Order: sequence, then C-alpha cells, then structure tokens
Amino acid sequence: MNQQTRKRLGAFYTPPELVNAIVREAVFDGALSVLDPACGDGRFLRATGLNEQVGVDLDAATSFIHDDALAREWGDTQFDVVVGNPPFLNQLASSTTRGGRSRFGGGPYADAAAEFLMLAMRLCRPGGRVGLVLPQSLLSTRDTASIREAVDSMAALRWMWWSNTRMFDANVRVWAGVWEVGGQQNGVRRAYGPDFSELPTTPRPATWSGLLTDAAPAPHAGPVLGDIATFSVDFREQYYGLIGAVGDNVDGPPLVTSGLIEPGRCLWGERPVRFAKQRYAAPRVAVDRLSPRLQRWAAARLVPKLLIANQTRVIEAVHDPHGEWLPSVPVITAVSDDCETVLRVLNNRAANEWVHHQAAGSGLGAGTVRLSPTLLAGIPLR
Ligand SMILES: C[S@@+](CC[C@H](N)C(=O)[O-])C[C@H]1O[C@@H](n2cnc3c(N)ncnc32)[C@H](O)[C@@H]1O
Repeated sequence: MNQQTRKRLGAFYTPPELVNAIVREAVFDGALSVLDPACGDGRFLRATGLNEQVGVDLDAATSFIHDDALAREWGDTQFDVVVGNPPFLNQLASSTTRGGRSRFGGGPYADAAAEFLMLAMRLCRPGGRVGLVLPQSLLSTRDTASIREAVDSMAALRWMWWSNTRMFDANVRVWAGVWEVGGQQNGVRRAYGPDFSELPTTPRPATWSGLLTDAAPAPHAGPVLGDIATFSVDFREQYYGLIGAVGDNVDGPPLVTSGLIEPGRCLWGERPVRFAKQRYAAPRVAVDRLSPRLQRWAAARLVPKLLIANQTRVIEAVHDPHGEWLPSVPVITAVSDDCETVLRVLNNRAANEWVHHQAAGSGLGAGTVRLSPTLLAGIPLR
C-alpha cells in the first residue's frame, strides 16, 4: 500500500500490546461473536479467540469482507463484541474528508473515527462490549459532541487507556475505551502509557475530556530530580545581552542552542545554528564583550553541567563535564554533583513518560512537550 492510499484509508496498524489490552477488557464470559468494522489484517479478531469472527475493510486487498462499513446495509445484525482501531480521517484535510455531514450524527468536521464509534454501538447487542482505539480529539471537539452524548445514553464506559506518546505511525494522540452497551455507569478503570500502567479507578467525570485531565496521577511523594540537581533557564536579558558578542570568528566558549542538543550528543560545529535571526556555523561568545553583569552570568554557567533542549519529544540532554559551553536561550541548565546520575534519569523512559504525562499538549508540535526547570525538578528518582 503506498503512502497516499494509506493516508486516505487511515490505515495505521495497531501494536499487539494495545490490541491485547483492549481485547482483554472487551471479551467476556459467554461472548461468541465479534465484529471489527475496519479490520485491516484481522489482528483484533484473531486476538479475541472467539468462534464467530466478522471483519470488514475498505481496502480491496482484504481477505475479509470488502466493503465500506459506514455505508453497508447491516440489517438487524448485532454482535457480542465490537472491537478495532477505526481510521482517523481528519475532515479538515481535503485528502481525507467525506465532504459533508456524517450519517451518524455529529457535525461536518466529526472525525470518521466518531462515526465508527456510533456504528459500533449500534452493532453491539445489549450487554455486549465495544472496545475501540480513538483519537484524543474525539474527547472534546464540538462536532463530536452529539456523538458523545448518544454514546453516554447507550453504554457505560468501563475501562480506558491513553498515552501521550505516539503509539503507532499515525501522528495523532490516541486513547481507547471499552464500553458495556446498556450498562450502568460506575467507576472507570484506567491504564496509561506504553506500559499500560494501572491508575486508580475514577468516577466518571462530567465531560469526556475530564477523563484525561482529572486523571493525572498525584505528584510523586518520594525523592525527585530536584533533590540532586538545580535546574535553571535564561531569559530575555541573557538573549539580548548575548547579541553582539556572538560570532563564528571570535574567541570564547561555544554557544549551544536547543537545536544542537540531541540525546547524549552536542552537535556544535557539526550543524549550523540560528541565533538572533543570524546563521552561524560554530558560534562562540566573546565573553569580554558582555556587560559585567552578563560576564558574571557566563562565569556561573561555565561549570560542569548538563544542557537540556526545551521543546522535545524525548528529553534531550548533553553533558558538559568541563564547563566549556554557554547555553543559548531557552536551553535549560542542570548543575549537580552527580551529573552522571542526572543524565541517566533524564535518559530513562520512565522520566520521558512522566514529563509527557505532566505536560501533555504543552509543546508546539504533536507529541512534543515544553520542558521547564520546575517540570524537570519534579521527575521521580525511582
Ligand atoms: C487504523 S487501520 C486499523 C486496521 C486494523 N484494525 C489494525 O488495528 O491493525 C484502519 C483500517 O480501516 C480501513 N478502512 C478505512 N475506511 C473504512 C471504511 N469506510 N470501512 C471499512 N474499513 C475502512 C482501512 O483500510 C484500514 O485497514
């Protein structure tokens, strides 16, 4: 399948851990039949192990029923379980829009995934379960409000999972829900992140978006990174103060910008940078051209430290063991007696998960977070 077709069909396949987590919650004792209305290679169907498996896919190459699940005449058919990862088709993009109102309620901009959610609810028998991977936008967008309302009137959310890291190729944050059709709404069991760590069960909040925001875990009570390191960031004063002292052909410490910092590696001198609207190949700071106040600042920064990029998908930190570099604005500086340990913690997957969880949506791009000294200082040590 080429990239264009893949995009048009919303064909991004689900990692097995996520398939299994949903299937575990959706399949119940006594269930016999299962439908995946956007089944791809049928991985959800197989994972259920149920006897009666029905799969539909719009991809002509499918070995299951080849059809448009949203347009299909389903008659009175209902299933014990409906599962899957339906296509997320952004209605604002011309390549993926259905070009009009949805037949399943919702406004013209309701993502196709919301239509699949409604379809799944209709095709699941009372007492049955629906388990779907969905875009996080569905939790809050205006054009899906009526679908959320309809779902609330038809089913009870039993379990949910979400992650703020990218779980598959689709450049979209996802969550998953498992509902009991016709069930009574009680607490919602929750899991979070690529490791599916269990979170405390929560009462169902008033809004769907509250499922994520109200669900942030309590601040870590044990030791944190701020106990062994001091984090700081520079502002306008340093930025404007550096202009005029930076150049490719001056003597002084290298100026390290966020763009030069990669996990464990500083690309100064290897990659050109922009500072104050100018391009440099290997910028240095002529410290003697700085004001006395900024010279004191430079002296305080020219110590063994870590430099950390401020906008990232994963935390990017580099070690400056001899105190030779000056951070540009807004690179974050970490000073510690034990830089090695701080670096190890920052490079750890758990630390990345933690900052993504705390600062979800703060960055400029999808999946990026804006780091701050406070956020980094709060990272749990264990
Ligand atoms: C995100 S993929 C998921 C596939 C599979 N369930 C998995 O998890 O690996 C979405 C699938 O929906 C199919 N699809 C897109 N629009 C569809 C439609 N209107 N009816 C049925 N299938 C559709 C795509 O071809 C693609 O296989």
